Order: sequence, then structure tokens, then C-alpha cells
Amino acid sequence: MRVLVVGAGGLIGRALCRAAPPPGLDVVGVGREECDVTDADARRRVLGAVRPDVVIFAAAFTDVDGAARAPASEAVNVAAPAAWAAEVETWLLSSNFVFDGSGPHAPDAEPRPTSVYADQKVRAEAAVRRAGGHVVRVGWVFGPGGRTFASTVAERLRAGGTVRAIHDVLVQPTHADDVAAALLALPRGVTHLAGAGETSWYGFASAVRARVGAGRVEPVRMAELGLGPRPRDARLGPALLAPWWSRLPGGGEAA
Ligand SMILES: NC(=O)c1ccc[n+]([C@@H]2O[C@H](COP(=O)([O-])OP(=O)(O)OC[C@H]3O[C@@H](n4cnc5c(N)ncnc54)[C@H](OP(=O)(O)O)[C@@H]3O)[C@@H](O)[C@H]2O)c1
Repeated sequence: MRVLVVGAGGLIGRALCRAAPPPGLDVVGVGREECDVTDADARRRVLGAVRPDVVIFAAAFTDVDGAARAPASEAVNVAAPAAWAAEVETWLLSSNFVFDGSGPHAPDAEPRPTSVYADQKVRAEAAVRRAGGHVVRVGWVFGPGGRTFASTVAERLRAGGTVRAIHDVLVQPTHADDVAAALLALPRGVTHLAGAGETSWYGFASAVRARVGAGRVEPVRMAELGLGPRPRDARLGPALLAPWWSRLPGGGEAA
């Protein structure tokens, strides 16, 4: 069976492409340069060339606050997954932000989006499900490569700097490799993939600080950072993947 990953250049896309696939699965990834997911001609060309049995849709406009200001986010986050799902069985990566923050939320809990980005995810989920596709929600994912909160924190602390991290939001940091392994089992319906541990951004940064052995971490309230609306407790249940603390790399690479 051939799996095509679109958005293969992103954090989770890369993890999907480097994972050891289950026996019988062949994974092909295309990044944005090879396939803009909003371009119908590119979609048909890639589907014709790769001939996948299924698609994992890992492309997205992931700037949560920016989505409200960028009209282009609608095409990537909503129209594109709907168009792909209409042509091939699709697994859509979605977000715990579809919920309002009264977690933990079960997969069949009613979504209550509180931002434009979250609303886009809810509508994309519905379109993909209507087309017979599947939804996999994740919360906060960390892993190697690229710039993430985890890598930025580690870098700043190693340089002896101070990190201000939110302490009044519950998160379930989940390693990208664990998400990829579970996702490649192609779970059907609506599935939550979350690490079995919860903390705050401050808790996570403090654990990185303990490993790095340098710098300072200061707690800050979400309201102090001037961010757009975000749920305070959008934990996903059941949380069955490895707990974040078991996946923190030692001293060297950030996360
Ligand atoms: N990482 C998390 O903590 C997290 C949490 C909740 C949900 N998710 C969901 O998981 C999915 C994957 O997230 P991620 O963390 O891997 O995000 P990411 O690292 O930002 O990757 C998204 C990828 O999509 C690509 N992309 C954007 N527009 C595209 C287009 N028009 N055509 C093709 N590719 C395009 C981006 O390319 P450019 O870099 O060139 O823009 C990027 O490589 C998303 O649906 C996201 O909402 C992630």
C-alpha cells in the first residue's frame, strides 16, 4: 500500500518520511516545492505520478494568530484538504485547538473553536469526514529539525539567556516520531494522538533547563503575551503515546 504525505517538509511530515513504515507500507513524501496543495493541477499531477492508495495531509498554515489575518490560510487549511479528500482516501492532521478548553476532550466531543485557525480546522475535519476520510488530532508536537518552541528554548538557555514561558495553559507535549508511528497505522475515524503526560510550557521549559544546565526560565501568564484566543486546557484524551519527559533528548540536541 502506498501512502503519499503532502506537507512533507513540516515537522510532522518529516517525521512521517523518516519513520520505519509498517510492513507492506510504502511512504512517499512531497514538500511544498513539489506540490502546492492548493493547486489543483499540481494535485492531479502528483496523484497521477505517485498513484497513492491513501494520502496523509500534513500541510497547513500553522501560524495560529496569523490565520485570521491571512486570507490564504483558508485555501490551505480548508479548501485543500477537502479537495484532496474528494479524490483519494485522506488522513487529515488536525488540532486540539478545535476544542474550547474544558479538557480532556474525547475524540467524539463537540468541537467549539475559539479562533479563525481553529474554525478552519473544524470545517476541514467535517469536509474530510464527509468524503470518507479520517481525522487525527494532535496537541503540541516537538521533534528534531526546524525551529520549534523546544529548540528555541534550548538554544536560548544554552546561551545563558532567559526564557519566559506560559504557566497557566495545560499542554501534552508529544514527540513527532511517536505521532508518525501511530499515524502510519492509519487509524480510522477520528483519533487523538497525545503523549501521556501533561505540563505547562513553563514546566516543559524548566525540564529543558534542567538538562541544559544553564539559563533561566520565568513563568508568565498567557494574557501577558498578547496572543490571540487559545484554549487553556485543550488536552486530548485518551493520551496513549510516550510521556514528554521520556522523549526529551539529553543535553545536546534541543528537541
Ligand atoms: N506541531 C504542532 O504542535 C501541531 C499541533 C496541533 C496541530 N498540528 C497540525 O499538524 C499538521 C502538521 O503540522 P506541523 O507541526 O508539521 O506544521 P509545520 O511544521 O508548520 O508544517 C506545515 C507544512 O505545510 C507546508 N505548507 C504550507 N502551505 C502549503 C501549501 N500551500 N502547499 C504545500 N505545503 C504547504 C509548510 O511549508 P512552508 O514551511 O514552506 O510554509 C510546512 O512544510 C498541521 O495540520 C497542524 O495544524 C500541529
